[in-house]
Amino acid sequence: MPDKTTQPSMDQFIETLAPLHIYPLWKQEGLLIRRPTTEAVPYLWPYGPVRERLMEAGRLISAEEAERRVLILKNPGLNGKPAATARLYAGLQLVLPHEIAPAHYHSASAIRFVVEGSGAFTAVDGERLIMQPGDLVLTPAWSVHDHGNETDTPMIWLDGLDLPLVNGLECSFFQPLDTKAQKLTRSDDESERQYAYGQLRPSWVNWTKNYSPLAKYPWNATERILLDALKDGVAGSPTDGILFEYSNPITGGSVLPTMACYAQLLPPKFHSDAHRHTTSAVYHVVRGSGTTIMDGQRIEWNERDTFALPGWAVHEHINNASEPAMLFSFTDDPALKALGFYQEQSENKQG
Ligand SMILES: [Fe+2]
Ligand SMILES: [Fe+2]
Repeated sequence: MPDKTTQPSMDQFIETLAPLHIYPLWKQEGLLIRRPTTEAVPYLWPYGPVRERLMEAGRLISAEEAERRVLILKNPGLNGKPAATARLYAGLQLVLPHEIAPAHYHSASAIRFVVEGSGAFTAVDGERLIMQPGDLVLTPAWSVHDHGNETDTPMIWLDGLDLPLVNGLECSFFQPLDTKAQKLTRSDDESERQYAYGQLRPSWVNWTKNYSPLAKYPWNATERILLDALKDGVAGSPTDGILFEYSNPITGGSVLPTMACYAQLLPPKFHSDAHRHTTSAVYHVVRGSGTTIMDGQRIEWNERDTFALPGWAVHEHINNASEPAMLFSFTDDPALKALGFYQEQSENKQG
């Protein structure tokens, strides 16, 4: 029988553990959490004032000096972390006329959604993608990419990356290319001509990479699909209206292994059902105006604004106008689904 008078108390016992870097599980907090929690908050970045500061940055630093002239959209709940949600990075990038943003590559995957300007390019793995407002451009992990603007007007786009996820997993590599611009090995927009028709696939290409071979999804085709669905009276999803996922034409799955992209139309006088999911999202307003209620907070959005939906936040979308509203969004769906962490649940409407 141990002598209780000589047994150390629990506190004294725990003190003896520190030098050994061990700790009792029964005292540890925040390890097995009952439901997803995040420091990220629902938040909207209005386009006007952000654009103004971006143009000011254009007077202060060149795209080449900055490597990328971007204003990062930092979620105010994330204590200064360069992230819009816990797993998604977003930023607005400006490339002025006759500038280049030099070639580099990294283990993070990226998407670009063009906000304004016309005719600048992103070059990806030897192919130049000529960008128009609303176009979605992919720069997948490890693809060499540079940006250039040979037009006379500024070009602004939304950057979306999986950086918080990649850095959280401690898997980030970054490498500048030894030349400013990469060697072009394909004709401009070649992948668009090869794959954009969807139902036809080039039989001579043996595509084995884990991302879409289609590097650019032009807005004119996307918008036509959304408006045709509206005209056809498609009801779509009760929680999202007419929501299409940009898909990999080979697999039908998401465009990148870590991020999915969506184009969405909210019909006039539409009020969605509410739901929540473990995935987080960044939305960009392409057309119209409306409201998204997230965890009871009403976010009023207008054209070109960007807003963040934290994971597991209850949300619903409202379009009270007589015109359709269109949203672009990117999410961390594929990463969470691949790991078996996707959960979704219906909720009561908040507004
Ligand atoms: Fe990059
Ligand atoms: Fe949702």
